Amino acid sequence: MRDFSRRDLESIFKLADRLENVAKGRTKNRALEGKMLATLFFEPSTRTRISFESAMQRLGGGVIGLGSVEASSLAKGETFEDTIRVVENYADVLVIRHSKNGAAEQAAEIAAVPVINGGDGTNEHPTQAILDLYTMRREKGKIDGLKIVFLGDCKHARSFKSLALGLTNFKVRVTFASPLGLEMNDSIVHELQTRGLTVEQTNNVESAIGDADVLRVVRVMKERFSDPAEYERLRGSYTVDLQLLSKCKKNMIVLHGLPRLDELAKEVDDSPHAAYFRQVFYGLCTRMALLRLILRTK
Ligand code: CP
Repeated sequence: MRDFSRRDLESIFKLADRLENVAKGRTKNRALEGKMLATLFFEPSTRTRISFESAMQRLGGGVIGLGSVEASSLAKGETFEDTIRVVENYADVLVIRHSKNGAAEQAAEIAAVPVINGGDGTNEHPTQAILDLYTMRREKGKIDGLKIVFLGDCKHARSFKSLALGLTNFKVRVTFASPLGLEMNDSIVHELQTRGLTVEQTNNVESAIGDADVLRVVRVMKERFSDPAEYERLRGSYTVDLQLLSKCKKNMIVLHGLPRLDELAKEVDDSPHAAYFRQVFYGLCTRMALLRLILRTK
């Protein structure tokens, strides 16, 4: 997210607005006809992979994918580097998800075609951050002036780091609310403050949400724990339910990158606070805009 200025983000948002009817399948658009996207997902994904596939195809482009790691020559011992060297010959743009921090950056150094980071370890998930920012703009009309509370596993959530870095382009207040032991990394907090963001941290969510405009929730990231007992101790330590939301502003929106486990009760789905399924659609619009801008088509 450090690569994106406010101007860059606003260009993406404006193009995403214009592509809404294409995303809904109401208007045809062949801007990416003849272009090919390769999806290389070394970690599980539903939304990021499928929304990129849909985005490319809605714009007339083609999609190829590695499929599962087990079904590829990685299972025979082919290296990550060689895999990138090969697949760059088949596509105009790559989207990569990997458990290793820095994997997308490494791929970008190897490949001659553009590489989009679809999530790398505990480092970043920038396209999730872009869709979170776009959701705030769509749902609240603007981002400046908002108070955003991040709730959950701030230590491991790469989407939180990317969103917080993206928010440094706006005049907002940010609170990280997490269970004890899952706080946001000190170096990120320091970087955010150096970039002018007002940041608070708490282990008590109720103290933070009363004047929040946006509650961005994340699950406890089981796959990032080396000690299963520690995960079991921390899961279920926070839940967003109607009782908690009764303490919030009436027009406060709940965002969640999904998938959810028990940190976001299903009863919230029908409440006016729930924006997380609309957020999924905004992810398609922003990924369409990104592909158009990256592939430099009008
Ligand atoms: N939000 C998100 O990244 O979802 P997936 O893991 O399903 O791609």
